[in-house]
Amino acid sequence: MKILAIESSCDETAAAVIEERAGKPLLLSNVVSSQIDIHKAYGGVVPEVAARAHIENVIPVVDEALKEAGTNLAELNYIGVTYGPGLVGSLVVGVETAKALGVAKNIPVIPINHLEGHVYANFLGAEPEFPLVALLVSGGHTMLIHMKNHFEYEVIGHTKDDAAGEAFDKGAKILELGYPGGPIISKVAEKGNENKIKFPLVDLTPEPQRNKEGFLEQPEPSMDFSFSGLKTALINKVRGGEDYKKEDLAASFQKAIIDNLVQNSLRAVKKYKPKTFILSGGVAANELLRDTLKKRISECSPNTKYLIPEKLLCTDNAAMIASVAYWRIKTGNAETTLDFAAEPNLEIK
Ligand code: KG4
Ligand code: ZN
Repeated sequence: MKILAIESSCDETAAAVIEERAGKPLLLSNVVSSQIDIHKAYGGVVPEVAARAHIENVIPVVDEALKEAGTNLAELNYIGVTYGPGLVGSLVVGVETAKALGVAKNIPVIPINHLEGHVYANFLGAEPEFPLVALLVSGGHTMLIHMKNHFEYEVIGHTKDDAAGEAFDKGAKILELGYPGGPIISKVAEKGNENKIKFPLVDLTPEPQRNKEGFLEQPEPSMDFSFSGLKTALINKVRGGEDYKKEDLAASFQKAIIDNLVQNSLRAVKKYKPKTFILSGGVAANELLRDTLKKRISECSPNTKYLIPEKLLCTDNAAMIASVAYWRIKTGNAETTLDFAAEPNLEIK
């Protein structure tokens, strides 16, 4: 079985091919054409520019993925494509390309949720072991997800405002470091002191309430996130008149984002005692986050297996979309159809 996957939800045009060998998914090619250099000049992704670049890139990227995999359209059994969430103009390019190829070559098409892709980026090399808890941290999303089984998602924590990647990107803008913020902040932070500036650790747990008998009842610790206060705190430090070094600001700001992510992840691990904890999404490429979570989870729950994708599979790519398609087919959860459209606000549930 061979699957081609196409991903174009934001600013990367990507295609990948996987083949089933000995009952396991094997990644044959994973091509990503990034538009970072185009959007850098604007300090962020410009939707119209992104859509136009996808149109130019999508066929060459698909061709390259097929060539690298040593295959062609005639040998494909399925096409998987991201149909949301993301930028509508960007999504449409991938969706229509997949449908056109599907019709022309009579290949069944499977619409795929991008967020599932980030989670399933972990299952190209390893069989998932349930129950699991996933921390999904990207430019558009920050959530903790509890999964009892394949494709059964319970969102147990989410951000009330900015996503973690967005916090990195906005922080880099405030510090005038450039775009995208995550990799730049972590690079600059290497030379800084992360304990120099104290940023807030956010706890959204509600206040204790009096019950019917008049006793105070302690609510469950919240697993929700909020990063906008952190951004304001950074602005205040930059404009506050004190002469902080950019390296110290970057290191302390990065530590604050990570502390917030780790705090809620540990709450989830304590509550759900998962067999596996997975970290995923673009921010999962962050070295300090990868290491800190690994250490803290092994201390808190030594029997929980910790999985992270290699860095190339953390930021947007099509291999993760192919992985979802593969596991959907294997578990009888694949819907093949041409009757679907891009859904910019698609959720995971
Ligand atoms: O998953 P992704 O490629 O796209 C979305 O689906 O949003 O994530 C992109 C986000 C950006 O906000 C970027 O700043 C962040 O991931 N990112 C990082 C790192 N590499 C990418 N954040 C922190 N540290 C990194 N090394
Ligand atoms: Zn993504």
